[in-house]
Amino acid sequence: MKHERHITLGIETSCDETAVAILADGRDILSNVISSQIDIHRAYGGVVPEIASRHHLQNMNPVFETALAEAGIDLHDVDEIGVAAGPGLAGALLMGTAFAKAVALAAGKPLVAVHHIQAHIMAGLIERPDIEPPFVSLVVSGGHTHLIAVEGYNRFRILGQTRDDAAGEAFDKVARVLGLEYPGGPAIDKAARKGDPAAVHFKRVYLEKGSLDFSFSGIKTAAVNHVHAERQRGRAVNVSDVAASFQAAAVDVLVDKALMALSQAGSDVLVLAGGVASNSLLRENLKAACTAAGVDLCIPSPVLCTDNAAMVACAAYHKQRLGLYSDLYLDVWPRLSIETDLDLLDARAKAG
Ligand code: KG4
Ligand code: ZN
Repeated sequence: MKHERHITLGIETSCDETAVAILADGRDILSNVISSQIDIHRAYGGVVPEIASRHHLQNMNPVFETALAEAGIDLHDVDEIGVAAGPGLAGALLMGTAFAKAVALAAGKPLVAVHHIQAHIMAGLIERPDIEPPFVSLVVSGGHTHLIAVEGYNRFRILGQTRDDAAGEAFDKVARVLGLEYPGGPAIDKAARKGDPAAVHFKRVYLEKGSLDFSFSGIKTAAVNHVHAERQRGRAVNVSDVAASFQAAAVDVLVDKALMALSQAGSDVLVLAGGVASNSLLRENLKAACTAAGVDLCIPSPVLCTDNAAMVACAAYHKQRLGLYSDLYLDVWPRLSIETDLDLLDARAKAG
């Protein structure tokens, strides 16, 4: 007998997390299994693509079986299989898509190709299914910093983006010079709790008046230069103070620009997304600013902010409702703008 709920299985392997999740009706998480390779890549100070692919290959099946078992779902109950097809590391994406195709073929299930960054945004709708487009999203991850107008479940328009480093990348680089462990974002967040955010002044970079673009390389370089200068003078660097000061500068700009984007787009709903969305100061300050401005702010639980497959399943659920399916010829796109219609690319590639 067919399961009475709509079941979506999501697969995510775009970077160093091997993840499989099962979602009922696009919002109830029945399982969300994530196997992180962070401990393996830590020794190299960053993700090594070849090693990531190899570990996806090894982890994929156990993660998949655990996800089904934890959800108490038989593969035959699954309505569609969603998989992140880009952007990300090519070899890592190939592992997830090849696995998704194999499962789709074996079980006779339709395949839905998902844009990884769009999935990060959709993570917000899992816990807040009452939110519907149009809304604005601030996406802050290791590779992306975007302000997006979400105009439909498959229509995304860039309002602003970073012109150089992504926010997470800046956190990671400052953490490295401070001697904090990889990944740097959570380490800075933790160290900053004991520091004084006013100890070192870092210039907030707003670019041209009214611009919704970001630039984090200036703040990052200023923090790195400050650390080197202190060391050259033979002074001990106060890691917590530098972490707190850097974090405060980065968060100020993110919060201010998110509110500017809302007013430019005429929206009063903001969805925060991406790994940096688990930063405690960003969450706190954004909450305060949105409450003051009467904005409905949606911040996913931390586990749904960093890479996971529940967000992929949620995006796939909404895409299948629009009839947007892929097939066994699905390719991967390591570099993919959030404005690019993945399904058009997919169809064009198949047409040759
Ligand atoms: O979204 P994500 O898991 O992967 C990408 O698609 O990039 O984001 C990872 C990024 C890393 O740069 C990591 O340092 C950052 O998110 N991050 C944080 C925090 N937790 C993760 N940055 C600041 N504060 C945090 N608590
Ligand atoms: Zn991500």
